[in-house]
Amino acid sequence: MKIAVINGPNLNLLGTREPHIYGSRTLDELMEDLSAEATSLQCELIISQSNHEGVLIDQVHAARKLGCNGIIINPGGYTHTSVALRDALAAVELPAVEVHLSNVHARESFRHHSYTAAVAIGQICGFGAYGYSLALRALLNDQHCRSGSV
Ligand code: DQA
Repeated sequence: MKIAVINGPNLNLLGTREPHIYGSRTLDELMEDLSAEATSLQCELIISQSNHEGVLIDQVHAARKLGCNGIIINPGGYTHTSVALRDALAAVELPAVEVHLSNVHARESFRHHSYTAAVAIGQICGFGAYGYSLALRALLNDQHCRSGSV
């Protein structure tokens, strides 16, 4: 199993960015933990982060070219604005799980709508870094179901 983990804008600032909302751990720390977990599950991760919408779209396209079985994506603020990122996820036809560290539904109303959630197999929000772990396990489970082994 190979999974692309795509992180959107401002997530490179985790650790110092509004720690009361996003916690005090850095993205590198979060991704290290996720990588260790993935290794224990015999799964390879391709991890990326960008602040640029077009680069994120390229990373979604690359996930298919590189033969990934699924995508974990935290689109950050582009969740609430980007039709183009939504179209990219729909185009590659890979199972995707949308992750948010914070509970976007308990925050400002502009965060309640996601363009990307409708083309994901599910959305996980409000559980901090644990959301990435849940997303990984959800994708692996989905893959087992698709392959008929469960
Ligand atoms: C976020 C939630 C978004 O609304 C926000 O723009 C982010 C982070 C989260 O992980 O909670 O950048 O995706």
